[in-house]
Amino acid sequence: MRVARAALAPGTARAVDLPASWGLGTTGAILTCDEGGQPRAWLNRCPHARWPLDTFDGRFLFTQDGALICAAHGALFDPGSGRCLGGPGRGEPLTAIALDLSDPDWIGLLPPTA
Ligand code: FES
Repeated sequence: MRVARAALAPGTARAVDLPASWGLGTTGAILTCDEGGQPRAWLNRCPHARWPLDTFDGRFLFTQDGALICAAHGALFDPGSGRCLGGPGRGEPLTAIALDLSDPDWIGLLPPTA
C-alpha cells in the first residue's frame, strides 16, 4: 500500500487505512513527516489503552515543541522515533511500520512480517 508523498506535508501527520489482508482489524496507520521531509509510519494504536491517537474527526495533535499527543488521554510521543515522552503511555513506544522509500513520488507502507 502506498501514499503519494505530496499528500504528506512536512511537520504534519495523517491517518492511513491499512489493508484487511494485514490482519490488524480496524487499526490504521499514522504517517508522520518531520520538517526535513522524512516520513515515518506507526500503527495508530496507543500503547496506553490501545485507542487510535487521532481525534474523532481524524486530526493529529502536537505540542508546541512537536510531540505527538494521543487525543484519548494525552500520552506524548516523539513522531520521529515513536518513543513515549510522557503521560499515560506506560513508557512504551508506538509500533513502527516499515517503509519503502525507493520511489521519490510515493511512500510505500510494508506489511508486518511474522
Ligand atoms: S489511549 Fe492514548 S493516552 Fe490513553
